[in-house]
Amino acid sequence: MSQRTLVLLKPDTVKRGLVGEVLSRFEAKGLTIVAMEHRLIDGSKADEHYVEHVERDFYPPLRAFVTSGPLVALLLEGDEAIEVVRAINGATDGRKAAPGTIRGDLSLSNRENLVHGSDSPESAEREIAIWFPQH
Ligand code: PPS
Repeated sequence: MSQRTLVLLKPDTVKRGLVGEVLSRFEAKGLTIVAMEHRLIDGSKADEHYVEHVERDFYPPLRAFVTSGPLVALLLEGDEAIEVVRAINGATDGRKAAPGTIRGDLSLSNRENLVHGSDSPESAEREIAIWFPQH
């Protein structure tokens, strides 16, 4: 079943010059880029996106990180795109993520872990409305 999902290439991806590397993995898999935007977000946008986590201990450093520089927001589409993207991204903690995944190959952190992918159809719908309301 074709799905849409929201992906963020977080500020570490941009700072490390890995946008092309990460984007090419999604493209090579066969996912379609429906929309893409390079932007710097403020804390309120971060709070909106991470509403489920704002009360968690790890949220203040996560908020500081995602607002520390520009990121790239992507709207991707394809068969089972939500699960496929999460498999390509790998486990949250780059130290534990499997080799072959984006985080497993390129990250050693659970904060600077390069990418975000929607975790369910409900999250995808909510996050797409936040980042790409025109879609
Ligand atoms: S949970 O409880 O399973 O829903 O949380 P998890 O999926 O592991 O993490 C949710 C997002 O929080 C980020 N995270 C952190 N950021 C900064 N510091 C620490 N210590 C930390 N731990 C987790 C994690 O990268 C997830 O970000 P997204 O963008 O949702 O992948």
